[in-house]
Amino acid sequence: MTKLNRKDLISISELSIEEVQLILNETETLKKGPRNTTHLAGKTLAMIFEKSSTRTRVSFETGIYQLGGIGMFFSPKDLQMGRGETIHDTAKVLSRFVNGIMARTFSHQTVLDLAKYATVPVINGLTDFDHPCQALCDIFTVYEKRGKLKGLTMAYIGDGNNVLHSLIQACVKVGMNINYASPIGYKPLQWVVDEALEVAKVTGSKIKSKENAFDAIADADVIYTDVWVSMGQEEENEKRKKDLKDFQLNGELMKKAKKNVLVMHCLPAHRGEEITDEVIDGPNSIVFDQAENRMHVQKAIMKLLM
Ligand code: CP
Ligand code: NVA
Repeated sequence: MTKLNRKDLISISELSIEEVQLILNETETLKKGPRNTTHLAGKTLAMIFEKSSTRTRVSFETGIYQLGGIGMFFSPKDLQMGRGETIHDTAKVLSRFVNGIMARTFSHQTVLDLAKYATVPVINGLTDFDHPCQALCDIFTVYEKRGKLKGLTMAYIGDGNNVLHSLIQACVKVGMNINYASPIGYKPLQWVVDEALEVAKVTGSKIKSKENAFDAIADADVIYTDVWVSMGQEEENEKRKKDLKDFQLNGELMKKAKKNVLVMHCLPAHRGEEITDEVIDGPNSIVFDQAENRMHVQKAIMKLLM
């Protein structure tokens, strides 16, 4: 397989096992090759951000530049969309100018609608529902560190949010097992788990909800966590911190983990909340290699789609 069988990259669930593998292979090739190429010479990427970003913005913008193209950043106030122009019209008009659209939105439906009406590829740069570029980067990073994915166990501790949804979808495509420990009220959407269980029948992955963090990490090769308060949930700050306090990735938990366990976090981290300094800065942490890989994976995605 040398091409993705789709126009857009919206969610990992819609990718075939072969397409996931293709993205990983292409990432490896691009990362090992020269940083600057002409694969997307003269092409343009519109980047729409309804929410803040450090990694996604800088990695897409740098990535397209390294491929010979150029990225254009738009916050809602930069576009007429922020003044009520419809997604339909915005998608149609942008498609007349650019070769791809990357969007980070609150509502997942916004990205779906952009993809529906745009004639150029649309890439999901995070929604309230999922974060596919992140999870593809995450499995690539594990592959780089361990040389394989199948049979490895990822333990996710904390809020069952957009990042966990994509991680579940990614792990099952590559035969990784995933244990998640989230308190009641913070578990991932059950239909995401059910759908993943169907894929797991083919790939052999195991997906388990664990009562507590200690149970989840006991046999894990990778421990992953993310913020307790995602973008858009700021009003629930105090309640979330209280409800999730027993799901912190800290030194006590690390004592029970495998010695060589990999510690991952999509970043930004709220140090002292979901993860402590000693763990994120500790010898098992690979969070900055992980962050760098966002660019390599997204270069592969842009090259394959655009
Ligand atoms: N992990 C991630 O998407 O980071 P940003 O919010 O900084 O883009
Ligand atoms: N769950 C976090 C991820 C940030 C990259 C959020 O949505 O804010």
